[in-house]
This record gives sequence, C-alpha cells and structure tokens, in this order.
Amino acid sequence: MNQFSFYLKNLLFTPIYEQGDILIGYASQTGTAKGLAEKSAELLQASGRSASCLPLSQVSVEELDNYQQVLIFVSTYGHGEFPDNGIAFFDRLCERTNPLNTKVDIFAIGDRNYGLFCEAGKLLHEQFIRLEAAHDNNLQLVDGAPYQRWQQWFADYSGLNPDGSVLDGPVQLAMTLTERGELHSQHCSIERGAYRLRFTLAQTDKTIQFQSGDLIGVVPPNETLERLYSVSDVFDDGVELCIGKVVYQQGEVEVVGKCSDYLINRLSLNQPIEVSHRAQGGLVLPKPQQPLLMVATGTGIAPMMCLLRERVATGASASNWLVFGNRHSEQDFYYQQDLEQMRSSGQLSRLDLAFSREGDKKVYVQDKLQQNRQHVLRWLLDDNGLLYVCGQPMLKSAIREVLVQALQERLGDATEAKVQYQQLLDKQQIVYELY
Ligand SMILES: Cc1cc2nc3c(=O)[nH]c(=O)nc-3n(C[C@H](O)[C@H](O)[C@H](O)COP(=O)(O)OP(=O)(O)OC[C@H]3O[C@@H](n4cnc5c(N)ncnc54)[C@H](O)[C@@H]3O)c2cc1C
Ligand SMILES: Cc1cc2nc3c(=O)[nH]c(=O)nc-3n(C[C@H](O)[C@H](O)[C@H](O)COP(=O)(O)O)c2cc1C
Repeated sequence: MNQFSFYLKNLLFTPIYEQGDILIGYASQTGTAKGLAEKSAELLQASGRSASCLPLSQVSVEELDNYQQVLIFVSTYGHGEFPDNGIAFFDRLCERTNPLNTKVDIFAIGDRNYGLFCEAGKLLHEQFIRLEAAHDNNLQLVDGAPYQRWQQWFADYSGLNPDGSVLDGPVQLAMTLTERGELHSQHCSIERGAYRLRFTLAQTDKTIQFQSGDLIGVVPPNETLERLYSVSDVFDDGVELCIGKVVYQQGEVEVVGKCSDYLINRLSLNQPIEVSHRAQGGLVLPKPQQPLLMVATGTGIAPMMCLLRERVATGASASNWLVFGNRHSEQDFYYQQDLEQMRSSGQLSRLDLAFSREGDKKVYVQDKLQQNRQHVLRWLLDDNGLLYVCGQPMLKSAIREVLVQALQERLGDATEAKVQYQQLLDKQQIVYELY
C-alpha cells in the first residue's frame, strides 16, 4: 500500500473503538498467539490508543463489557483443545447468559494437519455470537505460520501499518547434527529408549541466544507437519535435544514415528538440517529465589534437564525437586549419572523416582506426589513455588486429581479446592507441557 492510499484508508476507515479501551486477550501454549497479541497491543499503544494485553486466564468475562473492542488471539492444542490459559475463560463464557455490550474479533491459529482445525477459536466464536458480540466475519482462521496473515489482517482491523514490525516468532535455522548418543541402557527393548542429539549452528553469521524452555521444530522429509522438541541443553553455538523412539501398531504392522525415526536413524552426522527455533515455550526459567518442582515422564525430562543446568549455572538459590518416572530403572533412567550427581551435590534438593514396571505394584509419578502431598502444597502455597509437568497427556488429569484432593484435605471444602487449583493454573504456578 502506498502512503497516499494508506492515508486515505485511515481517513475513511476510522474505527469506532478509537476513543475507547481495547482489550487484547490471548490463549497460547507455545507462545505464537501470545507474540501476536503483544505485538498488536504494542502497535495500538504506539499509535496512541489505549490497549491492554492479558492471557485469557486473567480476563474476567464480566469485565469484557468495560471495553469497546475485544480482540482475542487463540491457538488450538491436543485434539482440538484450548491452551491451558484459555480453558477457564471458555468455561466462564459458556456460563454467561446476558448479552455482551462489546464487539469481539478472534484471530485463531492452528494447523490443518490436525483433525479439529482451529477448534478453540471456533468454539469461542460460537459463544460470542450467542452473546451478540460477534458475527460470522469476526473470526479469522489461520493455517500454519501466521505472521503474514496477521500483518494483512491487522492493517485492515486497526487502520495501522504493521509492515516491518518484527515479531518474536519462530526463526528458521540451519543446524548440523554433530553428536548422537543413547540415553537408555543396553538392556532396553528395541522399540523403546531415547537419544541425545547435539545440533550445532551451521551458519556462522547467526547469533541466537538459546535458553531453557526453548523449542526446536523439525519437519521430517516428505511431511508438512512440524514436530516440536524441548531443548535439553543449550550452548553458545547450538542445542541438545532428547528424542524418544516412537513405535505404534497399525493393524498387524508395527510402525515407527516419522520424525523421531528420521532424527534417530536416518539423519547422518554432519548433515545440515533446517529447523525452527521458538524461544520460550511454557516452561520458562523461574526467578532464582522461586522453588521449582519438576515432574517428568520419559522424554519429558528434556526441558527439566535444561532448566536444572541453567539454574545451577546462574547460581539460583532456591530448591529444585525432581520427580521422574519411566518403566525400568536399569533400562530407561535417562540422565541417571547427571541427576545422581546433582542430587549428591545438593543442586537437586530432592529426587523421587517412579519406575512403573518394577516390583509388584505399579508406581507412577502421581503416586509420588500423592505420598508427598503436604510437602507439595507447602511448596506451592507457602513458598510460592512452581510445578512444571512434562510428559504424557494423562498426567494432567492424574495430577489434578491428586492436588485437588490434597487441597480439599487442607481447606476442608471441595469447591474451594477446585478454585485454588484453577488459580494456581491461572497464575502459571502450575504449567503443563504434554504430548
Ligand atoms: C511442546 C512439545 C514438546 C515436545 N518435546 C519432545 C521432546 O523433548 N522429546 C521427544 O521425543 N518428543 C517431544 N515431543 C513430541 C514430538 O513433537 C513428536 O510428537 C514425537 O517425536 C512423535 O513424532 P513422530 O513424527 O516420530 O511420530 P508420528 O509419525 O507423528 O506419530 C506420532 C503418534 O501418532 C500416532 N499415530 C500417527 N499415525 C498413526 C496412525 N496412522 N495410526 C495410529 N496412530 C497413529 C501414534 O500414537 C504415534 O505415537 C514434544 C511435543 C510437543 C508438543
Ligand atoms: C501437540 C500439538 C497439538 C495441536 N493440535 C492442534 C489441533 O487440534 N488443531 C489445530 O488447528 N492446531 C493444532 N496444533 C497447531 C497449533 O495450534 C499451532 O502450532 C499454533 O501456531 C500454536 O500456537 P501457540 O504457540 O500460540 O500455542 C497443535 C500443535 C501441537 C504442537
């Protein structure tokens, strides 16, 4: 758009919300929707408009009426689910009956490779239509990398020109696989186990700062769907990933996971590969004085290793407690040596292990939390500690059950216990990264 037509457009298209407050809410699991929301707020503020930007977990449905205009950025996770910081807002929205006195636009991001495309955005939109705050044309559905679509759409929405604005989105990088080693022992069965892979930046001109909590995206050959991997260690010139084998049954046939097999078996050493780098997913480095309880199963240990190493390297004073679970201690106790060393040096104040296929009774990480529930509550409620969970999707309901029950014991009230648990989620004192 040239300057004249842009000026004309601004003149003709004077949005009604120019005098009023704009609320920008987001629900985001790995930071993309959050980045778009923050950039939109920044541009609106720079143009003199009053815009606030909040995760939906901090937005009250009743307060929506205080804004002339509401703009929501939302991604979809799991199988058509909301990101964690959007779940409670959606539940409250569904309960509201009286119409809203505001106008809501939704910018929904997703990926058509998943069954329920942009489902969270569609569900929100349905509710806002019911509450008379949106029409059909107030929903944008965006497939894949959303930055270009956002630029076009934001220009129309706001009358502002976002060209040239830099978003903290995924960055494409050329890297080279420089080391690969087993994390499981030789006793591990052939279809299980995990590998540590060291990748080094192939471009010498790139200066990227890798941090714990970052994610690396890989698209295997002949595929379109990107797989994400947490960094398990960071270096000036690269990262380490921890990749688990994936094997599943398709009828009679055993099939291997496409990306994990590519990274473990087919990508050669010293072969360059294009990856994407997403800074800071959900498991961000806590404040140095904040206690950290980490619960990990299988390759869920990856982000925890990185957090632990960074906490140690930066001299964080608060305690680190790890609960790790897998099947067999003698087969798949990943990073055993590092963890035992950290435990004996006191860098890990506590290490609980739950190997499910040993002994007569199966023991899972949630059982360890259940046994130590009073201690867990002290960490969360009295010491303002964090609980990070990474591993299988079923961990969310299992850990929720343990914590709600423990809170109920402490508070003596079931409803209050659920509210407190939700508050811990909303304040991001409890963060799940599940896959
Ligand atoms: C935020 C995040 C962080 C992650 N971090 C890590 C990490 O650090 N380490 C790690 O190893 N993984 C991690 N993952 C998981 C990773 O992204 C991949 O999902 C995993 O490697 C499997 O991908 P794949 O291509 O090997 O398997 P795919 O080929 O995509 O198959 C994956 C699964 O899909 C199912 N499936 C696929 N096709 C079929 C079919 N036709 N029939 C039945 N079932 C089917 C199977 O259950 C199979 O287990 C993370 C995921 C997320 C979202
Ligand atoms: C594990 C996983 C599950 C996903 N499930 C869906 C889905 O069901 N529907 C969809 O449209 N997109 C799905 N996506 C794609 C995300 O919505 C998309 O990558 C989005 O850009 C992420 O935004 P965020 O970083 O703000 O969370 C999924 C992505 C991942 C990694």
